[in-house]
Amino acid sequence: MTSSTVNNDDANRVHIFDTTLRDGEQSPGISLNTSEKVEIAQQLARLGVDVIEAGFPVTSPGDFEAVQQIARSVEGPTICGLARAQKGDIDASWNAIQDAERPRIHTFISTSDIHIEHQMRNTRDDVKAGARAAVAHAKSFCEDVEFSPMDATRADIEFTAEVCAIAVEEGATVINIPDTVGYTTPEEYSRYFEKLYEFAPSMRDVELSVHCHDDLGLAVANSYAGVLAGARQVECAINGIGERAGNCSLEEIAMLIRVREDTHGLTTGINTREIARTSRMVSRLTGYVVPPNKAVVGRNAFAHESGIHQDGVLKERSTFEIMDATEVGLDSNQIVLGKHSGRHALKDALEQLGFAVDGGALNQAFKRFKEIADKKKQVTALDLEAIVSEEMRDRTEAHELDFFRVEAGSDREPQAAAGVRLPSGEVLSGESTGDGPVEAIFGAIQKATGTGAELREYHVAAVTGGDDALGQVTVVLRADDTTASGQGVSTDILEASGRAYVRALSNLLDGIAIKQADESGADDAEIAGP
Ligand code: KIV
Ligand code: ZN
Repeated sequence: MTSSTVNNDDANRVHIFDTTLRDGEQSPGISLNTSEKVEIAQQLARLGVDVIEAGFPVTSPGDFEAVQQIARSVEGPTICGLARAQKGDIDASWNAIQDAERPRIHTFISTSDIHIEHQMRNTRDDVKAGARAAVAHAKSFCEDVEFSPMDATRADIEFTAEVCAIAVEEGATVINIPDTVGYTTPEEYSRYFEKLYEFAPSMRDVELSVHCHDDLGLAVANSYAGVLAGARQVECAINGIGERAGNCSLEEIAMLIRVREDTHGLTTGINTREIARTSRMVSRLTGYVVPPNKAVVGRNAFAHESGIHQDGVLKERSTFEIMDATEVGLDSNQIVLGKHSGRHALKDALEQLGFAVDGGALNQAFKRFKEIADKKKQVTALDLEAIVSEEMRDRTEAHELDFFRVEAGSDREPQAAAGVRLPSGEVLSGESTGDGPVEAIFGAIQKATGTGAELREYHVAAVTGGDDALGQVTVVLRADDTTASGQGVSTDILEASGRAYVRALSNLLDGIAIKQADESGADDAEIAGP
């Protein structure tokens, strides 16, 4: 195993660079608003990631604002903003992150001939000059500068090494080697690092980083190979979300490093007990459902169906399990409240789950808890988490489902009525029929609000097991080139569906308004000139 002489205290510590809010947010259909991004960033800090790539500030005022709020409010991790190797991008990135405790600018330019010829339409000399100028400009603002030669794994290694050496000469502190299109293999990526050290010995003076996409399902394996070859930063995303097939999944690489520490002696700073909660939060807010068989965080990741396995685990867990569900926080169902539990018990339980809820938010959560506890024998930690994540959002400016009624049966066409409360307090109502009761409710909401949006996705999942389980519904809507999701939780999946639809619609209207404001801002900037 080769190990780079990196400029960090512990050569065996692998830094986790989370890009859920940047590369992850670029996944088709995901569009998080600022408060959702801040909520995820706060949870990433609790999870113990070393770096949060909070966004790509130059792309829109909305992205800029989210990165800036994260930089101002999240303590602990380094906060990083992405920038192409262009002055305007780097300025925007710095302006967004400069208030962070530990800011970092991440700048990139492609080194593959495919990108140079067909995408950038310039030359290798332009790339060298662009990388030099970009790192020097970033360095004039910020001590911590990361440089990425995009599409590195399909590029000429010698040329990439030359560009990386230029970046180091200009003061880059981290060199990241992206497998942008998920093309490499573990052996090849490992050799790539060996060659890089050979062609550019200064790579041993900085931290090397891996950034692997999952187009061939190798993102985690490739990242691991890069780490064994000397990289000490892994760029990854919760639930593996990201461009196309996604990025290396944070929970998988973190547990791989932990479970196989015996073979490599490496560690991360991840508080693994926060993994399951972070995964659920990202899934809920992005609308990206975690497959049941997903490694580490899937709901079946620790379930044993075969009699032989069940028998073995009952006798001795290690017979068929390589890690314990408690290690990744999948045991949180131990907290249970009932319909007689009071406000104090709820506050205590929420604190154990990591939610500090007081005042109006506690009253709101308690009201919702009582509604659910009246219908459910026991309210578990997972139920509480689902309710509170829904109720704690600031909905003062949001549309809400006020009521719904539906009549359906095998012998009649479903008919629904729904009322939607606007931020002004006014309630608008509408009626509709549909092929099924859910479609009829969605139609009634559309009639009430006078909006038409395409239903892109609809998912229902049970929060826990049992026939009185809470149903959690995710709805993804699209209109005006804007996509938004919403979630709803209830013991009644029709009610959860209605809530989810109204929230998605409300987020969609916000998204469209922000986009229109961004576009008119961009027009103004064009008119005003540089
Ligand atoms: O995949 C990629 O190359 C990237 C870069 C911006 C690092 O996301
Ligand atoms: Zn990427």
